[in-house]
Amino acid sequence: MALYSEKVMEHFLNPQNVGVIEDADGVGEVGNAKCGDIMKMYLKIDNEVISDVKFETFGCASAIASSSMATEMIKGKPVAEAMLLTNKAVAEALDGLPPHKMHCSVLAEEAIQSALEDYENKKTKSE
Ligand code: FES
Repeated sequence: MALYSEKVMEHFLNPQNVGVIEDADGVGEVGNAKCGDIMKMYLKIDNEVISDVKFETFGCASAIASSSMATEMIKGKPVAEAMLLTNKAVAEALDGLPPHKMHCSVLAEEAIQSALEDYENKKTKSE
């Protein structure tokens, strides 16, 4: 069996939502100390809905595929729904990740959570 599913390869070779949002409403950056991979998420939020999302990932194929899939899963969704996105759901949407690569999907969940936290903090400050 191939190590990676077709979906992982698809998102790794042709990642969606790569880039930076200059005037992002929330930015989150996380890393994994063991492998050294880093993921940064940018969110644009209008009326509590994620109108745009972009990412920069300096990492492995699974991390790039997870970021791409995760951004696709939260784009156009309400903030409250995006908060519930789990790494398991991302991995499932990719038709699975090898066990030793599950932490790559955790990075995607954490990056989104961190960007949402940043958004909430900024919101509280401006209120
Ligand atoms: Fe660490 Fe993939 S090997 S994020």
